[in-house]
Amino acid sequence: MKNYKITLLKGDGIGPEIVEQAVKVLNVQAEKHDFSIDYTDALLGGAAIDATGLPLPEETVTACKASDAVLLGAVGGYKWDTLPGNLRPEAGLLGIRAALGLYANLRPAVIFGPLKSASPIKDEIIGDALDIMVVRELTGGIYFGERGRREVNGQPAAFDTEMYTVPEIQRIARVAFDVARKRNKKVTNVDKANVLESSRLWRETVLQVAEEYPDVELNHLYVDNAAMQLVRNPRQFDVIVTSNIFGDILSDEASQIAGSIGMLASASLSDGSLGLYEPIHGSAPDIAGKGIANPLATILSAGMLLRYSLGMEKAADEIEAAVSAVLETARTPDIWEEGCRKVSTAEMGDLVCQLLQK
Ligand code: IPM
Ligand code: MG
Repeated sequence: MKNYKITLLKGDGIGPEIVEQAVKVLNVQAEKHDFSIDYTDALLGGAAIDATGLPLPEETVTACKASDAVLLGAVGGYKWDTLPGNLRPEAGLLGIRAALGLYANLRPAVIFGPLKSASPIKDEIIGDALDIMVVRELTGGIYFGERGRREVNGQPAAFDTEMYTVPEIQRIARVAFDVARKRNKKVTNVDKANVLESSRLWRETVLQVAEEYPDVELNHLYVDNAAMQLVRNPRQFDVIVTSNIFGDILSDEASQIAGSIGMLASASLSDGSLGLYEPIHGSAPDIAGKGIANPLATILSAGMLLRYSLGMEKAADEIEAAVSAVLETARTPDIWEEGCRKVSTAEMGDLVCQLLQK
């Protein structure tokens, strides 16, 4: 029987409770599809700061590198908000993305049929379905550029730098075109090439890479227009490729179009098969420990883990189908509607497991 190693970075806030549900689901799929999983817990974010003083201890990097995939809950919380930038929980998240070379972040914004009414966008704009894949560059740009404080004209000032190299742009563009080939063969490049030099290089490079993919349609939007088009006519999008910061912003926007931020999964991929999987939402410290967090984004992230790191398409498809089915009758409070049963975090995990076992 094939055995896989998964490192769990449960993190802070609701992180531990939602990861627990995803682990239950993974265990059901392991039993059903005849493989086994060894889990290792490692510290990241606030939990790591409390235990070791650092948001990303070296042992965490070592554990992740020794595994087939990493499943992450969420990091951050009020308690650590006043620490200097390089010691905040978020620095641990950026650090693990960089340390594992996870430059490609896939964020699917999908509306599950039963949740259509949860979207703030009118039915006639959404149509029958919404399925957008945001491909966000994850280890470059302004998140990792030179930054600092200095004085300008005797006044305190601060700066952050947006910079991209051609190879960094080429590899994320190729990921986007490859993903589009398996979908509706359309890539929308999002940049700010009317103002930013880094965006002009970005666009030139995407155009060059596009020559390798004559079968994929390519168009370009400035990021301000893209933000507007996402709510005006989201159905025009198939795959969106964009920089780290624009992808951060547009994926939150896309998540609301899809109904709830509690539903969206993500995969952060490297050139090898090692990937890190996490919900796109945060650690929600205000509801931590209350048993009301929505675990579905993490469960769907576990599905992406099976698909992208372990190559188990069928097991992944089954998880998506089970999530869609469970939404017909049961909801956590964030997406609850009249006519559905209101369930806890753990009950939601159990219901998905039961559907998978049928
Ligand atoms: C995300 C988050 C992170 C980011 C934060 C927590 C550093 O917003 O994954 O989208 O900006 O990348
Ligand atoms: Mg974000």
